[in-house]
This record gives sequence, C-alpha cells and structure tokens, in this order.
Amino acid sequence: MRNTVLEATSTYAPGYTLDQVFYQSPEIYTLEIKSIFSKHWQYAGHISEIPNPGDFFTFEFDRESIIIVRTKSGTIKAHANVCRHRGSQVCLEKKGSTQLFTCPYHAWSYDLEGSLVSAHAMPDDFDKNKNGLTPINVALVGGFIFICLAKTPPSLENLRRDLSGVFELFGFEHLKLAHKETYSIDANWKLAVENYQECYHCAPSHKEFAKVHAMARLPEEFQSLKSAYLKQTNGSVKFQEFNCYFDLAPPGQEGYQYGRNPLLPGLISGGINGQGVAPFLGEISDYDGGASEFMVGPTMFFLMYDDHIVGYRFTPSGRRQCKCDVFWFVHEKATKSVDYLLEELTQLWDVTTLADKKIVSDNQKGVDSQFYCPGRLSTMESFEQHFLDWYIMTLKSAALQT
Ligand code: FES
Ligand SMILES: [Fe+2]
Repeated sequence: MRNTVLEATSTYAPGYTLDQVFYQSPEIYTLEIKSIFSKHWQYAGHISEIPNPGDFFTFEFDRESIIIVRTKSGTIKAHANVCRHRGSQVCLEKKGSTQLFTCPYHAWSYDLEGSLVSAHAMPDDFDKNKNGLTPINVALVGGFIFICLAKTPPSLENLRRDLSGVFELFGFEHLKLAHKETYSIDANWKLAVENYQECYHCAPSHKEFAKVHAMARLPEEFQSLKSAYLKQTNGSVKFQEFNCYFDLAPPGQEGYQYGRNPLLPGLISGGINGQGVAPFLGEISDYDGGASEFMVGPTMFFLMYDDHIVGYRFTPSGRRQCKCDVFWFVHEKATKSVDYLLEELTQLWDVTTLADKKIVSDNQKGVDSQFYCPGRLSTMESFEQHFLDWYIMTLKSAALQT
C-alpha cells in the first residue's frame, strides 16, 4: 500500500485535479477510510432527533455503523454497532427508542451506556464488564452531534472559542430537523466533495441557485456585491470570518470555516425565489440578505440562512459510490404546514443537489476514461485547491506511517 500511495502522491501538481488512480485504487480508498474518515469528526445528527432517554439513531458510512443514543442521565453516547460476542450488528433499526440493545443473533443485551447486561450460558470466567459495546467519541457543536472514531480526535477547542457566539445567535440548540434526504451518487466521494467546494459550476449547472446566491457570479462582481453587503456588519458575530480549514487548520485542531456571503440584492433567504421560508432562528429578528457558510471537518458543510439551516454530509459507501445527505433545520417551535411548507423549505437545495448528483456521476464517467488526465483549476476553485493540497498531504503522511 505504502508504495502505491507514495507513487501516486508524487504525481500531484498543485493547481491541477488529481490523477485517475485516486478515484479508482482500492489501496488508496482503504487508506482514506483510515486516515480521513476514521480520524476526523463526522456529523452524526442533531440533539432534537433524540430528545428522550432511550432515543437512538444509527449513522453509517463505508462498512461502519455507529449507534448514537440518549442515555438515562440525558447525555449523548455513541457505540460501535458491533456485538462483542461474534460481531453481528446489534441494532438493525435506523432509529427508534429502546431501553436495551439486544443482539438479534444470540441475544446478548447491552444497556444505553453500552454495558453488557445479559449473556446466557457463558463460561464462569467470562467477565461481562469487559464486554461492553466499543465506545466512540462524541462531541456537541452547539446542538449538532459529531462523532470521531480516532483514539485521540482532533481538538474542537478553537472552533468553539471562535464560534460559540454564532451558535447562540442561530440558536443551534433550538433547532429541529424538518427534513432529511439521502442522494446516492455513483462516484468516488472526493468528486462530490470537490464539487461542493467550488462555484465555478454554479452558473452553468444550477440556474435556480444562480438566481438567488451572489456566489454564482464571476469573482469581480461577487466581490463588489460582498463589499456592499458587508457594510452593514455593525460588529455582529454573524459577519466574522474564520478560515481554519484543510491545510490552514493549526496542528491538532479540527478544521473549520465560517463566513457570510450575500444573496442577490433584494433577496432574503433560500426559498426558490430567494424568499423567506420559515420563522427566524435563535436571536435573529430580521433578514440581512445573506447566508453563512460553516464547515466542520473535511466533509460537513452548513449553509445558514436567517430562517433555516441546510446541512450537507458527504460519506463514502465504497470506492465508486458515495452519499450526500442533506438536512433541513428550522426553529424548534416552527410547526410544519403552519409556520413553514416543506416543499418551499426544501425546493432550492433539492433541485440543486439532484443536479449535483448528475454532474458528479458524469464527472466520474469521464475520469474513468483512458483519455482522462489532470486538468487545470480555475481561479474560482481555490477552496477545492486547498482540499486537494490537504488531501495529498494527509494521504502521504498516513502512507509514511504504515
Ligand atoms: S453475535 Fe451478538 S449475541 Fe452472538
Ligand atoms: Fe453544485
């Protein structure tokens, strides 16, 4: 594995896309799971999805399944969904409420804390205390639940220090998940993440998005719209900017990014025509004509309008298959069909993600061709450039440690 990866990373030229091997090699995929998806914080869900003790859901990616549960004391824990007897998945339901997780194979039972509480006909020297479900790290970012499979996860301290005011302002702990949609994409996960990180494709591929977001405009026009928009900041935490993502993150800290960008003049939120779609979030009491971009770790992105938040999570399901889960959040007190209409809330990003699903899978088809070779990136793909630089650096150092 080491040689395959080192040989591949040595071909990388900054400013160009990756070589074909990065989208096809099983060795590289295995190392990505180990060095990226098992080492960074990944978004699992929101606290509002498990309000009561015993409420749980599972989060799956690649071959992993993690149970996220609210315990009797009200804290949130995560356990590997792997029975300590012979390894069956213990919890087969995607979500629900229970007091015990009983393995469907031979009925070992685990409590909400993950401790093994019953296992029949075991030898006298069997110690139940040493056979609990494997604990997984959990952290709350506002009310958003993140998990990390690493023994020593990257620190979230800087992120919390910089952004706790933003969490309060948008009422992260007082949201509810209004809708979730999973888009399966026939492509390597990196093509989907790369696509999310650039708006070079927005004007040609997303006519609905381009009618609402200034970001779809050419760089000069976008910058002048942004300067005009930022005149209203008044020192509010809403308009801060933090660029600590990918290769810009300090060592040991999880990467993050926060910034606010304008919608097109006169528009106020992420409705299909730039209209408001739900009651204001948190402490917000007026539309300012913008939306915040907030990223945590390498594969989770939030877009924060004044009245709703849209979350995007990218996870690999295999070398040539990935999932984009899209989450729509509104204020916890907002009532469906009274305060917001689901179709109005979800329309813009549903149509946009369906278009992305198509362009990304078409991208994979071309990347698979014998005629594919790395192409030059535009000035509108600088965020993607950071991702690729960080990706190569991460993979290279992981290969050197194997
Ligand atoms: S594998 Fe779970 S009880 Fe046997
Ligand atoms: Fe897109």
